[in-house]
Amino acid sequence: MVEVRYFSKSGNTEAIAQAIAAAVGAEAHDISMPLSGNTDILFLGGAVYAFHIAGRLKKFIKTLSPESTAKIAVFSTAGNPGGASGLIKKQLQKRGITPVEREFHCIGGLAKDETVQKQAAQFAREIMEEAKQ
Ligand SMILES: Cc1cc2nc3c(=O)[nH]c(=O)nc-3n(C[C@H](O)[C@H](O)[C@H](O)COP(=O)(O)O)c2cc1C
Repeated sequence: MVEVRYFSKSGNTEAIAQAIAAAVGAEAHDISMPLSGNTDILFLGGAVYAFHIAGRLKKFIKTLSPESTAKIAVFSTAGNPGGASGLIKKQLQKRGITPVEREFHCIGGLAKDETVQKQAAQFAREIMEEAKQ
């Protein structure tokens, strides 16, 4: 099962989540929606707020385990060009989870840009392809 979860305060990360979900034939949900069961691929997104990811996203990550989620691919938005993926990956690693090395990030203000949306969709399709190999 492929799942998409995100935390988004002002809609930028949500816009990327929607592009990813549409590309992989899944639905994007806020992290308040628990995962439905054993997950083959989880696309997990967040953003940077005052140099940190949201506490709610950290809490969600604490519910994950390597056993219940086979593969996690991270995406993020931020004001700075580096995104938040490194911060999210660090929290996953604390749980003993090694996320997919590749990640997608963009500047928040560009998240609804058509080109960026296409890049996010392409990223998601490539992760799906890699998972099949
Ligand atoms: C209160 C607040 C604090 C922020 N702090 C940072 C920050 O420390 N570093 C950064 O790169 N971007 C920062 N940003 C920019 C957000 O990461 C960026 O707008 C992001 O796309 C927001 O995602 P969202 O629309 O999904 O909530 C901040 C934004 C807000 C509203």
